[in-house]
Amino acid sequence: MAFPIQRLRRLRQHEGFRRMVRETRLSPADFIYPLFVVEGRNRREEIVAMPGQFRLSVDLLVKEASEIAALGIPGIILFGIPDRKDGKGTAGYDPNGIVQRAVKAVKDHVPSLMVVTDVCIDEYTDHGHCGVVKDGRILNDETLDCLRAMALTHAQAGADMVAPSDMMDGRVAAIRSELDQAGFTELPIMAYAAKFASCFYAPFRDAAFSSPQFGDRQSYQMDPANRREALREIALDVEEGADIIMVKPALPYLDIIAAAREQILLPVAAYQVSGEYSMIKAAAKAGWLDESRAMMESLLSIKRAGADLILTYFAKDAARLLH
Ligand code: PBG
Repeated sequence: MAFPIQRLRRLRQHEGFRRMVRETRLSPADFIYPLFVVEGRNRREEIVAMPGQFRLSVDLLVKEASEIAALGIPGIILFGIPDRKDGKGTAGYDPNGIVQRAVKAVKDHVPSLMVVTDVCIDEYTDHGHCGVVKDGRILNDETLDCLRAMALTHAQAGADMVAPSDMMDGRVAAIRSELDQAGFTELPIMAYAAKFASCFYAPFRDAAFSSPQFGDRQSYQMDPANRREALREIALDVEEGADIIMVKPALPYLDIIAAAREQILLPVAAYQVSGEYSMIKAAAKAGWLDESRAMMESLLSIKRAGADLILTYFAKDAARLLH
C-alpha cells in the first residue's frame, strides 16, 4: 500500500501531531557541562576560541555550579589548569591540586550536583602529552601509575565519578583496582572509550594550554577511519569495569554512537567537543546559521543516534530553551 493511500505529510500538518509522534526528546537531564578551573580568586577569563565559555577560579566555579544545578542539569565535568607543569603531570595528582580543591568546594556548596573529573595528565604535563614521555615515546604502563594516583585523589576529594580520557591501554582496570583497594567500590568510571585523534579538540587545547609540544596524539588516540577498532576499545573498557562508555567527538562519529548503542548494554555518553561548539558559534556570529536551532538540531541528532548522555558546552543554553 503506497501513495495515494500512504501520505506521510498527514501527521506533519499540526504542531500538536508533530509533538505526538516525535521520537526523540532532549531534556536537561541528558547533559553534563564541562568546566575549566584555574588558580586564584575572582578570575573569569573568556576562552577566545570558545565564546561564552570561561576559565573560572574556584570561588566563581561554585556560583556557576549552583546556576547549573538550578537549570536541572545533573552534572559537571571538571578540567584543571594548574600553575605549574612537569614531565609526569604531578600537579594533577596533588591531593591539594586545583581540581581536588574545586571538587571539594562544589560538593560542599552544591551537594546535589554530580561532579565528574577528567582523569588525564595532559593539562599538567610540560610536554602536553597524555602520558609519560621517554625518548619521544609515550609510555603506557608508566602512565597507568599517574592515572591511578590521579583518580584516587579525585575520589578522596569527593568526586562522584571519574572519567579517564588518556587512551592508555588498561587504564580502566588500573583505576578500578586502585579505587576498590582504597574503599571506593561504589564510585563509577565513565571511560572515554572510543576517543579519536581529532582536529576538533583544538579550541579545548587553547583553553587548557594543553597542546602537545612535539608530535601528535595518534599513537594513543584512535584513527578516525576505524569503526571496528572503536567497538573493540569499547568492549575492552566494559570488560575492565567501565560503568558508562563514551564516544568522542560526537557529530562526526554518530555511526560509532549508534553502533555502540546497539552492541553495548551500558549507558552511552557522547562528547560534543570544543570544535563542534566553536563551529556553531562562529557560523552564528557570521550570520550564517541560527545558533539556537543549530545547537538543538546537533544535540538532538546525537541523542537520536543513541547517546544517553551528552557532554556539551551548550548544556546551559539548551537547558534554558527546554524549560
Ligand atoms: C584530555 C582531554 C581533551 C579533551 C577532553 N579531555 C583534549 C585532548 O585530547 O587533546 C577535549 C575536549 C574538547 O575538545 O572539548 N584531557
